[in-house]
Amino acid sequence: MLQLAVILPTYRERANIAPMVARLDAALQGVAWEAIFVDDNSPDGTADEVRRIALDDPRVRVIERIGRRGLASAAIEGMCATAAPIVAVMDADQQHDPELLPKMLSAVESGEYDLAYASRFAEGASTEEWGRPDRVKASGLANRIANKVTGVELSDPMSGYFMLRAETLRADAHRLSGVGFKILLDILATVDRPLKVKEFPLNFVARIEGESKLDQTVVFEFLVGLYDKWLGRIIPTRFALFGTVGALGVAVQLGALWVLLKLIAGERFVYGNWSESATFNTANTLAAIIAMTFNFVLNNELTYSDKRLRGFGPLMRGWAQFGLTCSLGLLTNIGSAAVLKTIGFHAVIAVIVGIVLGSVWNFALSSRFVWGK
Ligand code: GDD
Ligand code: MN
Repeated sequence: MLQLAVILPTYRERANIAPMVARLDAALQGVAWEAIFVDDNSPDGTADEVRRIALDDPRVRVIERIGRRGLASAAIEGMCATAAPIVAVMDADQQHDPELLPKMLSAVESGEYDLAYASRFAEGASTEEWGRPDRVKASGLANRIANKVTGVELSDPMSGYFMLRAETLRADAHRLSGVGFKILLDILATVDRPLKVKEFPLNFVARIEGESKLDQTVVFEFLVGLYDKWLGRIIPTRFALFGTVGALGVAVQLGALWVLLKLIAGERFVYGNWSESATFNTANTLAAIIAMTFNFVLNNELTYSDKRLRGFGPLMRGWAQFGLTCSLGLLTNIGSAAVLKTIGFHAVIAVIVGIVLGSVWNFALSSRFVWGK
């Protein structure tokens, strides 16, 4: 009977698939296991490589997701796609040693522990190479915050290598956020009863094939994850990101306007001098386009990182659509403020309501038409 499912999220890991399966096979002698690769339509043909191996080995299969990105959501979907009573999640890039799996399995299967995980910072663990030295520091800080949030003392709550009973996971799967890279942390913070956790020291070896995908955004994803956990139900995370980017856009427009006025008119320009209104309008139009472009880029990188538009064509189309969306949002913004002002609301309230309505409209339209699929 099937005992264990190993979930391996992949993005551009083609060269690691065959060695990974061979190492699982060697490490899990005597265990009835299956391996589920969850691939986000990697351009290097990772999913095809898994299918090639799966033809001869029914223990191996792939879930290929189209138009989606994200390690956490890939892990969740993989864990929900097996009949095995126990599930493990690990990186597919061979940085996680499969030799730990049988030890983790005994800890969980015996019922002594609810969850087993591999720690890069436990006694006896080591990390061979971190792409960038500041990641160790960022990781240390993240760990301290994480321990506060979950109430569980773990030396490495950001670990991507763990094992637990599938039913523990499935009971709360709908409450997991699926944002970012901190899936273990998310599970610990989401499951209501405290889990008994067994820590295994991991020798986190350097990558041989391929490259890391989470260098630049790991801290950002972590913060977004925390937000999602605590406030995401009140103001949806994506809308909060969209709104934050929008607020930054206001600052960008003001800054750009100031610079442009200096450039175009030099010292001659004086605020409030309306004979300069043509200059002002030209500069402000340019500034608005700059801010709109800034918002488009930031939303594409952060707010919609899982649906990011890539390549010249899609980016230009997206930019134009976003511009159109923003114009409609602006009409809503100004229009609703005008109506409220006319029926007697205080100007400040009218303006704020206008901004909120305009943003909601912008968000609704752009998530449907710019980043929708
Ligand atoms: N499906 C899918 N989608 N898989 C992904 C994605 C994605 O968007 N991004 C990364 N992966 C896969 C990679 O292919 C790899 O198998 C695994 O997730 C880990 O990604 P890496 O890019 O190799 O991560 P790392 O080694 O830099 O980061 C390690 O430390 C993090 C915490 O600091 C990993 O152990 C992470 O799991 C861990 O959260
Ligand atoms: Mn890695």
